[in-house]
Order: sequence, then structure tokens, then C-alpha cells
Amino acid sequence: MNKTIIVSNRLPLQVKIENNTLNIKPSVGGLATGLKSVHEEGNGIWIGWSGLTEEELNKDLSNQVNKEVTKAKCATVPLTQDDVDNFYFGFSNKTLWPLFHYFMEYTEFDNDQWEAYKTVNQKFADVVLDNIEDGDTVWVHDYQLLLLPKLIKDKKPNTTIGFFLHIPYPSYEIFRTFPWREELLHGMLGADLLGFHTYDYERHFLSSVKRILRLDVQFNEISYLDRVVKVDSFPMGIDYKKFHNAALSHLNQSNTEKSELQKRLDDHIQAGPDTKLILSIDRMDYTKGIPNRIRAFEYFLNKYPQFKEKVRLVMLAVPSRSDVPQYQKLKRETDELVGRVNGEFSTVSWTPIWYFYRSMPFDNLIDLYTSSQIALITPVRDGMNLVAKEYVATRVNQDGVLILSEMAGASKEMNEALLINPNNFEQLADTLKHAIEMPAEEQSKRIKILQKRLQRYSVEKWAEEFMKSLNDTKKIGKTIVAK
Ligand code: ADP
Ligand code: G6P
Repeated sequence: MNKTIIVSNRLPLQVKIENNTLNIKPSVGGLATGLKSVHEEGNGIWIGWSGLTEEELNKDLSNQVNKEVTKAKCATVPLTQDDVDNFYFGFSNKTLWPLFHYFMEYTEFDNDQWEAYKTVNQKFADVVLDNIEDGDTVWVHDYQLLLLPKLIKDKKPNTTIGFFLHIPYPSYEIFRTFPWREELLHGMLGADLLGFHTYDYERHFLSSVKRILRLDVQFNEISYLDRVVKVDSFPMGIDYKKFHNAALSHLNQSNTEKSELQKRLDDHIQAGPDTKLILSIDRMDYTKGIPNRIRAFEYFLNKYPQFKEKVRLVMLAVPSRSDVPQYQKLKRETDELVGRVNGEFSTVSWTPIWYFYRSMPFDNLIDLYTSSQIALITPVRDGMNLVAKEYVATRVNQDGVLILSEMAGASKEMNEALLINPNNFEQLADTLKHAIEMPAEEQSKRIKILQKRLQRYSVEKWAEEFMKSLNDTKKIGKTIVAK
């Protein structure tokens, strides 16, 4: 039976060694959480990096990792410490990530890291080629593997290859600064279908292809060598049922079943009828607008002092890429800002910001989503942002308000949220006030529409539409050859 092979740098599980034993956790991040349910239902395998380097693995540990990974229908690509330093922390996260998120000032162009990027993409290709059979489909994901489609296509031209980018594709003016731009585009064009979250990212990509490679582009089809490459947008959804049902069963929890976190959240909610929790959840990443959010919250408390002791910002930041200096700087800045705001406004009975810097189990995420009357999601640039969608899915009583940055891909499908520019503190402060005071009927009207849309365009549907479109490319390819 033909299968679909998913390939991404990060597997849905992440392996760590703690006290000489393996610790296996689910991966955080939109790609892994989103694709997980699609993978669980399919018959294919998922190829990626376990999170450990070859140097960390002795024979025994390696066997254990393989056992766990195989159980999860995955296969690993072995990466050395040098690969991780130069490919993952290096080129992927010091070059492509900042460049594609418009952080030019953070972008490094380093030839050795580019070489490492090519080497590691080849390592991924080798594992894929070992696992592939005639008739299989390969679905490659994200910015760490932009060269992989071509590496597979060159060796196995009859393989159907899809590629999906989970982050923004920047405008031509940004992309043209990239020293290896032609090679990168050729790498991507090894795919038969290229998918993006939004029409804008798709448009930017097509513009780069036209202007840099001077290829013929008709509507959303690129004539490339003897093939046609199709480009389209597929906004990624969430496993709606999983979040909604988890929130429903949460409602029926008895006091003894409640987590400690839930009990503390309840204490705040029960403190008074107009007390509100404002939630944010992100990886600790400079694209997420965390310092902006804290500054805007401080501005809000100064502008509208009547909300002191009433509202609390609950901020969950999950550690991410902490070997990259900009992430370390962001962590320091966040700690300082939280300290400043709490120092300035706290009273004996109230702390304005609750700040957690850690990963949390799924049940605690649901505690947070279901207890917070407002979600404040303010990225300065974000490919999609699934947290915004997860929050809406958990609002089983159709109450709650989502404040969402216009710079998140999700804003394109979530017009009923309160959309803001994360750099405009005045607007942010006023929107927070608006959200706190929004009448229940209006909350419900907005949430219902959002929920309906999210339910319809779930992650399963997203994968199904991508696959359908990928299968259709086989027909287009034939038409062109016949001409
Ligand atoms: P990104 O992909 O940039 O990290 P998204 O908002 O698209 O941003 O996806 C983040 C995903 O990671 C969500 O599915 C969210 O539930 C999950 N997540 C975020 N923070 C945590 C955390 N502290 N613990 C567990 N999962 C988390
Ligand atoms: C974003 C990226 C993913 C990445 C995730 C977590 O969602 O699009 O490719 O896996 O962040 O980042 P990490 O570096 O830990 O894999």
C-alpha cells in the first residue's frame, strides 16, 4: 500500500536525557502539535530529528530511542553536535528564521553555516530515500528543509512531493538580500506543490520566483524544467474536537480532580464578578511580541487604573532555542519587564502578571484556556499562530474575547477577533478595555462564528485539502508532458 512520508526537522516527540535516563515529551510548536493528529490517523511514517545528538547517544540509549520512535511511527535522522550547532541553531535559526520574519538586524549570513544546512538537508534526503517505495508521496515541512524537495526529486523523479512552509514567506525586497537565493528557490521547486498559510505569503513567493529565477508563472502555476509546480495557500487549522472536548470534560471536573493550577486560577476568578484573567501562551521567541505585550499592559494599567487589582495577565512562555543569543536576550528582557511591572503595581493581595517560563502538560494548557476571559496574542510577525485558534476552540460556553495581532497569519481568517497592531500601545490599551467590558451577547456572537469556521477548517481538513491538491498535480504534470 502506498504511504505518505512526513518529513520535518522536529518530530512530534522530543527526546532528552535526564539523569542517564530518557525523557520523552511531546514537542511544542505549531508544526508538531498540528500535524500530530494527521500523522496518528495515517499509515505513513514521520522522519525527523529526535532532539538528541549522536554524541549524546551510546548504543543502549540509541536502541531505546529507536524503540520509542518506531512505536510512534517515526524514524530519526542522526545529527551530530556540529550539525545541531551550525544547521539548527545556526543557519535555520540565525539566518532563515529571522530573515523570513523580517528581523533583518538579527540575520547572519555565514558561509560555513550554509554549508552545514546543505549537508544536513542531504542527511534528511538519505533517510527519506532509504524509506521510500515507488508510488509513495513525500510531504516536506518548513524552513529547515527548503533544499530537500530537489534532493529527493533529483534521485526519484517519479515521487510526488509536497512542501509546506509554516512560517511567513517574506516580500521580495527582503528575500532578495539572501546570498544563496537562487539555490534555495531551486531547492523548493523540487516539489510538485508548495503550500503557504496565507495568500500574501504565496504571492511573495511567486514574486521571488518571477524576479529572481525569471520563470514563467501563470496564475499560481510555475513552468519549471519539464514540470509544472503548483503554489497555493492552505491556512492550517487545529484538532478542534480534541481541544473542545477536553474543555467540555474540564467543565465537569470535581474539586478533587482539579489541578493545583486550576485551583489558583479559580481563586482569582472567584475574587469578584469583574475580575478577569488575560492569557498569553507562546514559545519564548522574539517574533511573538512578548516585551511589547508587557509594556502595553503596563500602559493600560496606568491609563485605566480602575482595573488595578481586577485583571491579571497570565503569561506562559515555553523555553525555545536558548542557545541563540537573541533568545537569551529576550529572556533577560522579559524577566526584567515582568519584574518592573510587578514591582510597580503589586499589592499585598494582587500581582498583575503571573509569568511561567516552562513547558506545561496538555491538561494545564486547557486549565489556562478555559479559565481566561481574554486571550492577548500579540506577535510582531507570525506565520499562523495556533494558540489563537486553540483558545477559541476551548470556549465551550461561547464566552471570552480574543485579541489578536494583525501580523499573525491567523488574523486573515479570524475577523471576529479584536484585531490590533502590536506596536500601537494606545490601541492595545483601549482594546483591552473594550474586551474587558464587552457584553456577553457580543462575545458569544463573535466566538460562535469563529468556532464554526475553525470546526469546519480543522487540521484534518487542512491536510486533506493539501493532499488532494498534491494528487491533482499528477494530472497537471501529465497534461504538460503531453503538450
Ligand atoms: P509556534 O509554532 O511559533 O510555536 P503556534 O502558536 O502556531 O506557534 O503553536 C504553538 C503550539 O505549541 C500550540 O499548539 C500550543 O498549544 C503549543 N504550546 C505552546 N506553549 C506550550 C507549553 N508551554 N506547553 C505545551 N505546549 C505549548
Ligand atoms: C515553529 C516552526 C517549527 C518548529 C517550532 C518549534 O512552529 O515553524 O518548524 O518546530 O516553531 O521550534 P523548534 O526550534 O523547537 O523546533
